[in-house]
Amino acid sequence: MKILVVGAGTMGHGIASVCAMAGYEVDLVDVSDEILESAKMKIGWSLKKLEEKGSIKNAVEVLNKIRTSTDLAKCAKDADFVIEAVVERTEVKKEVFKKLDENCKPEVVLSTNTSTIPISDIASATRREDRVIGLHFFNPPVLIRFVEIIRSEKTSDETLKKTVEFAKSIGMDYIVVEKDVPGFVVNRINVRIFSEAMKLMEKGYRAEEIDAAVKYRIGMPMGLLEVDDFSGVDVLYNVINELRKRGMDLEVPEILKKMMEEKRFGMKTGKGFYEYEGFYSRAKILPRSAYKVNPLKLLAAGINEAAWLIRNGVASREDIDKAMVLGMGYPKGILEMADDFGIDNVVKALEGGADPLLSNMVAEGKLGKKTGEGFYKWRYHRKEFGPVIYEKRDNYALITMNRPEKLNALNEEMWKGLNEAFLEAEKDPEVRAVVITGKGRAFCAGDDIAVMGSWKSFLDGKEFFTNIAMPLLNTISNYKKPIISLVNGIAFGGGLELNLAFDVVIASDDAVFSVPEGLIGAMPPIASSLGLAVIGRKMIRYCLTGDQMDAEEAKQLGIVDIVVPKDQLEIAGVEFVNKIARLAPLSVRAIKETARAYRNVFGFAIEKSLHEIIELIPTQDFAEGMKAFVQRRRPSWSGK
Ligand code: NAI
Repeated sequence: MKILVVGAGTMGHGIASVCAMAGYEVDLVDVSDEILESAKMKIGWSLKKLEEKGSIKNAVEVLNKIRTSTDLAKCAKDADFVIEAVVERTEVKKEVFKKLDENCKPEVVLSTNTSTIPISDIASATRREDRVIGLHFFNPPVLIRFVEIIRSEKTSDETLKKTVEFAKSIGMDYIVVEKDVPGFVVNRINVRIFSEAMKLMEKGYRAEEIDAAVKYRIGMPMGLLEVDDFSGVDVLYNVINELRKRGMDLEVPEILKKMMEEKRFGMKTGKGFYEYEGFYSRAKILPRSAYKVNPLKLLAAGINEAAWLIRNGVASREDIDKAMVLGMGYPKGILEMADDFGIDNVVKALEGGADPLLSNMVAEGKLGKKTGEGFYKWRYHRKEFGPVIYEKRDNYALITMNRPEKLNALNEEMWKGLNEAFLEAEKDPEVRAVVITGKGRAFCAGDDIAVMGSWKSFLDGKEFFTNIAMPLLNTISNYKKPIISLVNGIAFGGGLELNLAFDVVIASDDAVFSVPEGLIGAMPPIASSLGLAVIGRKMIRYCLTGDQMDAEEAKQLGIVDIVVPKDQLEIAGVEFVNKIARLAPLSVRAIKETARAYRNVFGFAIEKSLHEIIELIPTQDFAEGMKAFVQRRRPSWSGK
């Protein structure tokens, strides 16, 4: 079987290589011998690289399967399958198709690699519209083993079948795009996301902040603007304009127009969204910039487009996800990510511009993992352990302290409920990580003073700490799964101290922390023991003063790992679940075991601190402190 590839530019030479690698004889046609010479050099170079990597056995043998020519009519005569990859201009493509139609055998399928031109437009230049089809590769085809196969209204089932078989035969995975819409699937979603990135730049965010958010939080292989610089800002500009012209409701971002005027085309001109010095220079995107931009804002624009594609019968949710993973290197499907982050959050991020499919999903409570169904179905169940809500959200558990009117203070039911919830998550093998947060404006305001104030004797307190608090502390200290804490507001006393035993602590920028127990005649047992060990001497200052610290200070101290704007707290938690879920479960377990051994070294200090607090209970200071707190007055010892 002989394959004809028309156009030997960026895509054509790569497509010819892929076909030759699969064992086909290939004719590669372009308008001049110089272009063909250069294409052959590039093919030779890339095949050599593949040979070095062991992907192919013999580069020369593969190269010899490709013959070049400037005679389209002649090559068309003995072609068995045609792939056209000439410049993206309708009249040129039509001209080529007319010639192909006149010279190819009648049964031969003519496919086009166009990115933006309707397949039906190109097909209209032929008398075999049923045998014309879109076969859209990604750059570079030798590495991205995926194509979109696009049928026009006139494409026959037979042509589709032949094309699918051909794609498979050259080692390509594929999706079928059922309707000939401008941009097909991947480019439609891409232009939305790229446009959103540029809108954020117009609002003052820097390119590296946008790119760091998608690269380090979502796990995309490259930053969005970095990709644009790589493939050419002018190319993006043309694609957006073409798609607009063909009816896609899109704006050309001002920044893009300006870049076109200034000839900032990306890597090829040394300047684009980033500046490049020399060929090997790469954009500098630092992880520390990752928490400025909400990555869901960017993804939401693409998710919205995907919703449109589903609603219009262009592609299925599974195919859309497959296309973004294989074509764009996404770490998981865009709709799967929508389910992770919550359809309600997606709609919020779209600020009123949501597709009806998404708004309906929200109205029906199909919010994704958090309700057990979104674009997909997820394993979900919900339970309450007293004031603690436990939700299994497929591969993680969310534990919510739900006593908002008491700022989620730790009374007996809360201690017990938390312990039961953690144990529930631990015994479920599908749960890979646990996320904990508080409802309302507090994460947790610490021990319930009303309860502590009611203790009549040393024994009451001892009984409470031994039988109520210790089981939870033991559970957490020996926990085998990662615990991610989302500190949504006030974290005082025990509310701060629990965080010292969690693995990842993410705080909203308005969270406040303190260990004020000494002010009411008690003391912070974990902060003064484990806290001192893991954070250092500075922890004692806060134990001795009860001073408050904001989220940034708590981060500097090491209590908090990451501070995010409040509206990003929930999604930051999901991001960490996803990151942890990428590790091997046994590796996670080994890390947790080691951390447990380290923390247990300080077991003696924790024991000592619990002994100290129990000793405080029968004292006058404790009784006075509790009374003063309830009466909202200063205790008698202060200010003397
Ligand atoms: P290119 O400009 O690198 O190559 C186009 C080639 O077509 C040139 O070598 C040109 O001499 C040749 N050509 C022009 N008129 C011709 C004719 N009448 N007969 C034979 N050859 C002719 O362009 P590129 O990037 O390779 O794009 C080709 C097609 O692939 C376009 O339709 C484009 O939309 C599509 N595409 C491009 C992608 C990319 O990342 N560059 C990705 C996917 C699709």
